[in-house]
Amino acid sequence: MSRARPAPPGDGPALRAEGLTKRFGTKQALAGVDLDAPAGTVLGLLGPNGAGKTTTVRVLTTLLRPDTGRAWVAGHDVRTAPEAVRARLGLSGQYAAVDEKLTGRENLYLVARLYGTGRGPARRRAAELLDRFRLSEAADRPSGTYSGGMRRRLDLAGALVARPAVVVLDEPTTGLDPRGRADTWECVRELVATGTTVLLTTQYLEEADQLADSVAVIDHGRVIAQGTASALKSRVGGERLTLTLPDPASRPGALDLLAPLTPHRPHLDPRTGVLTLPTDHGPATLEQALAALRHAGVPLGEVSLAPPTLDDVFLALTGQETSTAPAPGPVPTKEPAWQP
Ligand SMILES: Nc1ncnc2c1ncn2[C@@H]1O[C@H](COP(=O)(O)OP(=O)(O)O)[C@@H](O)[C@H]1O
Ligand SMILES: [Mg+2]
Repeated sequence: MSRARPAPPGDGPALRAEGLTKRFGTKQALAGVDLDAPAGTVLGLLGPNGAGKTTTVRVLTTLLRPDTGRAWVAGHDVRTAPEAVRARLGLSGQYAAVDEKLTGRENLYLVARLYGTGRGPARRRAAELLDRFRLSEAADRPSGTYSGGMRRRLDLAGALVARPAVVVLDEPTTGLDPRGRADTWECVRELVATGTTVLLTTQYLEEADQLADSVAVIDHGRVIAQGTASALKSRVGGERLTLTLPDPASRPGALDLLAPLTPHRPHLDPRTGVLTLPTDHGPATLEQALAALRHAGVPLGEVSLAPPTLDDVFLALTGQETSTAPAPGPVPTKEPAWQP
């Protein structure tokens, strides 16, 4: 990973970005983004609101020029060969680009025609995609009457009309209910099964976990970690034991009691008294923690055991909550295998 590589040839990785920067006024939206996705894989770009996900997507899809840095899609440079890039790309945005007055079928037919497809083939392609995305029954209703999940599926289908080699999905499930999210995940899985390369941005660790072969964590316009979702999760511990300690006087003692229970570092929020302990053996750690606290007579409020969230990953990577994180410093060096 550390060796400098030459610019990829025509059959290089499906997606690559090197040192992308972009400033809007005084806002440094991208501060040096490096990405790499081999053909036929899903790369998850995971980060909180404002991290630089959409800006990265806009650069990769030729909609925005970076200040510095380079990027390639299917081996074509986004700066010098934008037409070639656009011919190989399908884009589905954070806000579904669907004409609500038109039916689902009309929307897809129109996109196919815009790509220069003849009338007959455009009709067939629309029908095929409606079927694949389980929209056949609703195909002839105005898409304005669709549910959020159906609209996202239609938008996704629109991105596939021209059979692109690379599909970019910007927060495809933000704002969807769990059913809509599960539907969209299914569609992305089918897409990948056909050999398409996918760049997917998301604010949810679980979504990256479900869909991505590799995850790049982005914060303040910089990739602060890259690896598989399970590597990210194990970095922060398999689960989080969360205990509320209502009595401020007993908190330091409780921290001393609980810290030895796992190899991961506990975190105590002094304002709320919420103590978070990452653990690889959730139920056992829970029992031990309750026994230790009972034995020491430490008063206890709420207790929960849950998988790590994006916030937990950020906390582990930066030592900061996502909402207050400053520009990240060096990543802790415990597991160098998946550092950028
Ligand atoms: N056109 C723009 N003008 C000014 N600031 C922008 C513009 N686009 C994005 N930004 C800022 O750049 C940062 C990154 O934005 P964005 O890439 O949209 O983040 P994300 O998609 O991860 O939520 C944010 O602080 C955002 O406010
Ligand atoms: Mg965005």
